[in-house]
Order: sequence, then C-alpha cells, then structure tokens
Amino acid sequence: MGSGIAEVCARSGVDVTVVEVDDAGVTRAEAAIERSLDRGVAAGKLDADERQAAADRLAYTTALADLEGADAAIEAVIEDEDLKREVFKQLDATLPDAQFLASNTSSVPIMKLGAETSQPGRVIGLHFFNPVPVLPLVEVVRSIMTTEDTLERATSFAEETLGKTTIHSQDRAGFVVNALLIPYLLSAIRMYESGFASKEDIDEGMIKGCAHPMGPLQLSDLIGLDTLLAVSQSLYEEFRDPASVAPALLNRMVEAGLLGRKSGRGFYDYSS
Ligand code: CAA
Repeated sequence: MGSGIAEVCARSGVDVTVVEVDDAGVTRAEAAIERSLDRGVAAGKLDADERQAAADRLAYTTALADLEGADAAIEAVIEDEDLKREVFKQLDATLPDAQFLASNTSSVPIMKLGAETSQPGRVIGLHFFNPVPVLPLVEVVRSIMTTEDTLERATSFAEETLGKTTIHSQDRAGFVVNALLIPYLLSAIRMYESGFASKEDIDEGMIKGCAHPMGPLQLSDLIGLDTLLAVSQSLYEEFRDPASVAPALLNRMVEAGLLGRKSGRGFYDYSS
C-alpha cells in the first residue's frame, strides 16, 4: 500500500521520498508505481506529461534519515505493532518540525504510536484503501492526544491535496471499515474451510448476489493474508468478539507463505 500512497501523493503534485527497507524493496516499489502510472495513462486518468511529472516527483531511498526536512510523513510498514512503534520513534527524531506524522495502520491504535514520540499531538491515522489510486476513501483517526491542528492539517491534506473523501473514526481497533469488513472476510474463510461451498461459488455469490466488485476470498488475497491475520488479531485483542478469531486455515496459509497476490498465491494462484 505504501507504493499506492506514494503514487497518489506524487500524482497530486507532492514531492515524495519513498523509504524502503532494502534495495530489493526500492526496485519493487518503483516497478509497482511505474506499472500503476502506466495503467492510469491507459485508463485515461492522466496524460503522458502528467505521468512523467508524477514519476519525477518520486525519490527512493533505504535511509529514513533522508526524510529530514519533510513537511509530513505517512508510515505504511507491515502490520506489526512493534515495528510501527520503532518507526514512529525514528520519525519523531528525524522530523521534529513536521506538520503531522500519520500511520496507514489498519488496526494498531494511534495512541500506541503517538506514545513512542515526544509530540503525540501531531500523530494521526490516515488509513487508505487498496488499490489506493482507485479507491476514494481515507479514514482519519484521531487519538486522545491528537491536536485539533493536526486533525485539520491531515484532513485537509487527504481531501484538498489528494482529492480523497474522508470519514472520521475513534481510535478503536479496525476503525470503521475494517471493524465491519474483517469479520465478514473471516466468515467467508470459515465457510470455505468447512466445505460449505467452493471458493469460486462464495466469491461469485457475493459479486452476483450483492453487487460487490470482488468476492471475499479474492478480496482477502488483494489485502494480503498476513495483513488480514494481523488485523483480526488486533480486533480480537480489543473487543474479544469470537467473530474476529482467525480460522485455522488462515493461520496455516500465512505460515506457508501463501499471502495472496503479493506472494503469487493465496486462495487463488497469481503466478502467471
Ligand atoms: N490508476 C488510476 N486509475 C486506475 C488504475 C490506476 N493505476 N487502475 C485502475 N484504475 C481505474 C480504472 O480506469 C477504472 O476506472 P473507471 O471505473 O472510471 O473505468 C477503475 O479504476 C477500475 O479498474 P479496472 O476496470 O481495471 O478493474 P476492475 O473493474 O476489475 O476493479 C478493483 C478492480 C478496483 C480492485 C475492484 O475489484 C475493487 O474495487 N475491489 C474491491 C477492493 C476493496 O474492497 N478494497 C478495500 C480493501 S480493504 C483495505 O484496503 C484496507 C485494509 O486495511 C485491509
């Protein structure tokens, strides 16, 4: 999702520095953004000059220190609470004057990230949806320490700079969308696991019966099964609702490295 967020920012005229974990990550991110920009041109969403301008606004690095002097940061590391906490500690030290430090977390309470910083008032959640260039929503999540100024700046960035639609959520695991979506996806996995219906019929049922753009198992593969598992664990930790308990099949698939589209195989095979 980090690539998608960086692409949308660059397409909106923002100079972006993408910090990746290693050189392979840089290569992957750059290739994903180039591919998506090409798709955008093919779809008539931007012309060749705008595409080039967006690509020129993007810089790639593996050093978080290269963010020094940036106006804001949006963290989109994997859904691992300890890792996110560490990143916020480093962002706080690197960007003492940034207008806001945002997290794209799907489920980690924003207060836990703010607590790692010297200025928790400027930490906020900006939760994007996959694929970021296509889906218009950003959830804005204010912790109990986030200031009014931070809320206004981050909301205005999402709405006016990026042209997204925002909704606001309290700082509760899953926020609005995932608190509703994840139990539904887990139910579909349980249905498939129990042999109730085939994966194709479960997906077809929701596409043709409820006009969803994709079925729940296809959507799980798009989100990433590791992310789905991490969000389900956060939801369960917060609400203790059995509907958020990960089915055994989801655990086994993540252990096997079957993470969905990003690994080439999940409920479906994407290797070709
Ligand atoms: N840049 C700009 N526009 C693009 C684009 C790109 N790179 N790629 C595609 N588009 C546009 C297309 O031009 C098309 O636009 P129009 O409707 O104006 O013609 C639109 O996006 C749809 O694209 P496609 O026709 O190529 O693809 P599709 O119709 O098969 O839709 C999909 C694919 C957008 C993924 C759709 O199936 C969908 O919306 N699925 C649901 C996704 C979803 O629910 N995401 C949320 C996941 S939850 C999450 O992300 C949060 C979390 O924390 C877990």
